[in-house]
Formats: sequence, structure tokens, C-alpha cells
Amino acid sequence: MNDDTLNVITSNRGKYVEYKEKLKGHHREIEMVNIDYPEIQTDSLEAVVKFALKELEDHAPLIIDDSGIFIDALDGFPGVYSAYVMKTLGCEGILSLMEDQDDRSSRFECVIGYLDEEKKLFKGISKGSITYEKKGTKGFGYDPIFRQDGFEKTYAEMTSEEKNRISHRGRAMDKLLDHVKESY
Ligand code: IMP
Repeated sequence: MNDDTLNVITSNRGKYVEYKEKLKGHHREIEMVNIDYPEIQTDSLEAVVKFALKELEDHAPLIIDDSGIFIDALDGFPGVYSAYVMKTLGCEGILSLMEDQDDRSSRFECVIGYLDEEKKLFKGISKGSITYEKKGTKGFGYDPIFRQDGFEKTYAEMTSEEKNRISHRGRAMDKLLDHVKESY
């Protein structure tokens, strides 16, 4: 590790794997840093990330992200509560809530907070639908029940490379990479 190592602050190895894959071929080193820090519960991913960036200043250069799945038929639920709902209801619980729903449309949102010499947020959105059953064993979280528009496979049936090319996190990361360009 050196001072330039980009710390990915997360307890979620699945996210880290995606960041690592995305930075393949770039010379910037990255490292997963799993630390506890105070989090706020608000109705916006951006607010969560901005708050976290202040708490984590000492660990720069760093990235963190806050993400969620927003289901139209459930008025955007679980959205910013996605982590809690994953822990309590899980994918099966979401499938039960959606049992009689024909409108399966939903979207993933990811807000990356980046702190280096500058502080900046990057947002990526992927639109798709909730499947009728779990499919695939790769990835994490809601991946087995989300199929992005225009694709046959769920995220859990894709490699991290395939998912990264099109996903909310992949898109947010593309924006970050586009912004930092030659320094990476
Ligand atoms: P957080 O961003 O770590 O707070 O994630 C919120 C919840 O959404 C967690 O339960 C994650 O597992 C889930 N989640 C976040 N990103 C993804 C993703 O890319 N695919 C599937 N589930 C995700």
C-alpha cells in the first residue's frame, strides 16, 4: 500500500470485487477498508454519501457508495431502506410483496462519493424489472431478482465484468473514471 492507494470503504465484498474489476488495467491501486462509521438515515442516497464523506475524511483518498433498489409498484420501496429490507425480508420477501403485481418495473441507483484532492459525487442508474423468481448465484444483494432492460440474464447470472459494463455502479464508476482520466 502507498499513499495513493484508493480506499474502498465498504463491508460488502461484492461491491469491492466490482470496483476492483472496473479498475483493472488502470495503475491506481485499491484496497477494501471495512470500518464502522456513523451513518444517517435520510430519504436521499446523496445525503447519506455526503454525510459519510465528512465522517471518513481521514481515510482519503477514498470511494464509498450508497445504493438502493426502487420498485415502481411499491412507490419506490425499498429505496434508501434497501439494506435493512435485505436483512429482514431478503429477495424472497420482495418476491412475496410483488406476488400479484404485473408492473415489475424498478431501478437500481448508485451514488459514489469520491474524496481525493477534491470531493465529488457520481450517480448511475439502471432500469429493469423484478423477476418472478430468483435466478443465478453470482453477485450479491438483490442481484438474483433484477433483470436490466434489454438483457436476458439477471445480474446474478452475469459475471462481475458483464454486470459492471451496464449496471448502476458500473455507470457511476465510468463517470468517475471519465472525470479523473489520465491520473488513473
Ligand atoms: P448499501 O449501498 O450497501 O447500503 O446497499 C443497500 C442494499 O442494496 C444492500 O442490501 C445491498 O446488498 C443492496 N445492493 C446494493 N448494490 C447492489 C447491487 O449492485 N446489486 C444488488 N444489490 C445491491
